[in-house]
Amino acid sequence: METDSRKDAIVLAGVTRLYRSGSRLLTARQKTIRALDEVDLNIPPGCIFGLVGESGSGKTTAARLMVRLEKPDSGTVSVLGRDMAGLHGKHLRRFRRKIQMIFQDPYQSLNPYQSVISIVSEPLSLRRQMTKDQRLDKVLETLALVGLDPPSTYLHRYPHQLSGGQRQRVAIARAMVLDPQVLIADEPTSMLDASIAVQIYRLMLKIQHRSKVTMVFITHNLAAANYLCDHIAVIYRGRILEIGPSGSVINSPCHPYTQALLDALPRFGHIWKERRFDTMLDEPRSDIPQNGCVFYSRCSKAEYSTCRRQPVLKSAGRDHKAACFLI
Ligand SMILES: Nc1ncnc2c1ncn2[C@@H]1O[C@H](COP(=O)(O)OP(=O)(O)OP(=O)(O)O)[C@@H](O)[C@H]1O
Ligand SMILES: [Mg+2]
Repeated sequence: METDSRKDAIVLAGVTRLYRSGSRLLTARQKTIRALDEVDLNIPPGCIFGLVGESGSGKTTAARLMVRLEKPDSGTVSVLGRDMAGLHGKHLRRFRRKIQMIFQDPYQSLNPYQSVISIVSEPLSLRRQMTKDQRLDKVLETLALVGLDPPSTYLHRYPHQLSGGQRQRVAIARAMVLDPQVLIADEPTSMLDASIAVQIYRLMLKIQHRSKVTMVFITHNLAAANYLCDHIAVIYRGRILEIGPSGSVINSPCHPYTQALLDALPRFGHIWKERRFDTMLDEPRSDIPQNGCVFYSRCSKAEYSTCRRQPVLKSAGRDHKAACFLI
């Protein structure tokens, strides 16, 4: 989308992140995985931005770079106007309070030996000027915000005494208690059943409308992204293949991979009942070009002579871009 990158809440510019797999001792050559490959993203403030892709596409890697749990091998990650690579020590710790993350599995992200009051009030210990009573009030207010009502009845429970949906609400409360400016939610509902997931989506919408936090919502589910997000970026094997306002991406998908993601959804609404794209091959191609389109092996539309080069994002409508030679 066309935005002024100085005002964007999050900017990824030419970001590549490589992982090396296989032990140097056991294998002659280590394999390099391009978890993110030359990714450019501009996320405007105060929006819900969806990052959508299948397992292994690089979504969590992008999230970890945004909260500076990792650094890129090349390119820059800026959040709230600051280059994350330049932050260290106490400056990084202080800055990180503005950027919170919710993880996929609340069982792993919540300490089973901590009660709810301890989990949610812990980040407030950084606010030395707050009295004990003020902290308790803030915890109660935040628990009410995430729908754990009446909040006082949850304070002394432990994670195993909560349902999956309640645990994820506690994780959201812990992330929101410091009033962050950026919230990164990495597949926050993948451990929940569909009806509870919908409750969590509604909660995230409510929180975003109230707090105006910039939210990055990571999911493999295009329907969930459509429900929640203002903008969607579709990622595949570390590359952004399509990006634009949610309505455009869902109603006029341009990239064969986005079309395949839509084919995979249960039919919804009258538009999609009849429409199928059939852009994903059941059997991957074997004649894979070395530096060609990342979707080539599975794309039913691909042509070797055209797709043997790597496409870059080009305009496919207002604020809508796709990386495909065939559109
Ligand atoms: N620490 C690591 N060491 C080696 N490879 C890694 C590491 N972390 C991720 N990868 C690889 O990088 C690629 C992207 O992984 P990532 O976790 O970002 O995907 P994802 O889109 O979050 O997938 P999922 O939907 O399953 O969570 C994958 O091929 C993964 O195997
Ligand atoms: Mg992940």
